[in-house]
Amino acid sequence: MAYPYQIKSLEEYQENYKQSVMDPEGFWANVADHFYWRRKWDKVLEWNFKDPDVKWFTGGKLNITENCLDRHLGTLGNRPAIIWEPNDPEERHRVITYRDLYNKVCQFANVLKNNGVKKGDRICIYMGMIPELAIAVLACARIGAIHSVVFGGFSAQSIADRIQDAQASLVITCDGAFRGNKDIPLKSVIDDALMGCPSVKKVIVCTRTRTPVSMIKGRDLWWEDEIKQVETMGNPPCSAEEMDAEDMLFILYTSGSTGKPKGVVHTCGGYMVYANYTFVNTFQYQPGEVYFCTADVGWITGHSYIIYGPLSAGATTLMFEGVPTYPDAGRLWSIVDKYRVNILYTAPTAIRSLMGYGLGPVNHKDLSSLKKLGSVGEPINEEAWHWFKDHIGKGRCPIVDTWWQTETGGIMITPIAGVTKEKPGYATLPLPGIQPILVDENGKEVTGNNVNGNLCIKFPWPGMLRTTYGDHERCRTTYFATYENLYFTGDGCLRDEDGYYRITGRVDDVLNVSGHRIGTAEVENAINMHAGVVESAVVGYPHDIKGQGIYAYVITERQTHDPELTKKDILQTVSRIIGPIAKPDKIQFVSGLPKTRSGKIMRRILRKIAEGELDNLGDTSTLLDPVVVDEIKKGRL
Ligand code: PRX
Repeated sequence: MAYPYQIKSLEEYQENYKQSVMDPEGFWANVADHFYWRRKWDKVLEWNFKDPDVKWFTGGKLNITENCLDRHLGTLGNRPAIIWEPNDPEERHRVITYRDLYNKVCQFANVLKNNGVKKGDRICIYMGMIPELAIAVLACARIGAIHSVVFGGFSAQSIADRIQDAQASLVITCDGAFRGNKDIPLKSVIDDALMGCPSVKKVIVCTRTRTPVSMIKGRDLWWEDEIKQVETMGNPPCSAEEMDAEDMLFILYTSGSTGKPKGVVHTCGGYMVYANYTFVNTFQYQPGEVYFCTADVGWITGHSYIIYGPLSAGATTLMFEGVPTYPDAGRLWSIVDKYRVNILYTAPTAIRSLMGYGLGPVNHKDLSSLKKLGSVGEPINEEAWHWFKDHIGKGRCPIVDTWWQTETGGIMITPIAGVTKEKPGYATLPLPGIQPILVDENGKEVTGNNVNGNLCIKFPWPGMLRTTYGDHERCRTTYFATYENLYFTGDGCLRDEDGYYRITGRVDDVLNVSGHRIGTAEVENAINMHAGVVESAVVGYPHDIKGQGIYAYVITERQTHDPELTKKDILQTVSRIIGPIAKPDKIQFVSGLPKTRSGKIMRRILRKIAEGELDNLGDTSTLLDPVVVDEIKKGRL
């Protein structure tokens, strides 16, 4: 069997789960044994959640790329590692075998070395979904440089914040990116970002769209020219840097309840074992299957389930440059048909949006190759779940509703495809090694079934975050200080009568818009940058396609003459400061905000109004100015 740790039956799941709780170290050592380590670990786990200080496989030496590439060459060298489907269906697709990928990663790793990049340096990657993005990520890992991938939809300001926080020395980007009918000028965004980033000494630009770019002498280099140089050196091999299991592999920035995104840090050994274990088990990957995850590599889903999970398992991973609705709403189904995709992993927001186009785009597409379906990023409503099941999976394919987070590194609570039971709207059961617990606001454990609580995890797992970059205290206060000795997820959760988990959404000030995490404070800060704005408050409200929409209450300096124009200006400001994904769906101008006597905004009331629950606002008597609530109710959009 290809993966000895792949769970094959319900009984095996139960047995494995039990063992993982009774003897976590033995359990994970057994899994980790199936990887290539330059040196075995001395100790499987050392931990406390107080500092927090979590170390897996200490003393172990490895390089994740040797596990993703080198070790497959003998047996899988000619097998496709990456199948790449371009944005334009008329353009030629690319198939990159494991051997090709290995060669390209070594080549680009040498480019990085030629440009002075060393182990531990931070590299910012801002690219579209082309194979060179995966190559850049792996090349960093090859030489021990720490990658920080920034999603192509973020603004110059957001990139600059991330570059400065990580003190990145080099940026890898493209001239532009194709997404649907758009051509996003990535290099020009980087040029704006770099005006305030003295740490960046070099920018490597890969050609994709042939958008004109300004190349700055001494700083900017073409990817293709740099590769040529390595070729003239005779393409020397690039041996993998020997990394400690606990050396940093990457930083990925994510939003929290404060205004500033935090750099979640993952390390080499534990992350590798966990991304692989969860990929192989959740999707029940079988050698030769074609696996398609529609996420962007700019998010954790792309890191763990386009690149590291599948490649470390020797799988064939399909990478799609475009969007599900271009050139038409049948695009994902055409891709499934074209490449005989066996496993499709996507997001509820995509399913809901495609549902809206009816069955026309699905009909006449051959989806018979599909065996397993997956969902990630936000709660999936039953209607979308059934549509996915019936019309895409034709009733034959299990759906895995996978709950996890940037911080968890990999899937935590999920059905195992075809092995454990599924239940629409439920992430169901924890994978082996994961010990969820529900607590009330006081941190008291909520036991038994048919209960609600805040979701925490009470024991470490190999893929968990180790710190937030440059600010360990922030990691402690955000995740480990709310409840003693527990990792707090920020999610609310129901455990039903059968013990199945259903995630009910965030309980902090974080929104989930189309599966993207956005902090309300971040959006408020951006809105407040607009010259005419005095104050604002942002809340989420249910949105048919996005899951959650962004509702902004805004106080302006004086009555604006043209509210529509002011709204557009505010949207433009948010786009500039964060990126188009954070643009409010609704902006209501108000003369005041409901505040307590101590000046705290009562978001609960604003949330209720945005949700349309006008009669159920709870106690407003403690408000500084209760009249303002009536005004806001009247003006509701
Ligand atoms: O609220 C949960 C929601 O997405 C959050 C994590 O967001 P992010 O770090 O961006 O990672 C997204 C991809 C893993 C969680 O705190 N979430 C994620 N998956 C699910 C989910 N909510 C319900 N069901 C899910 N399957």
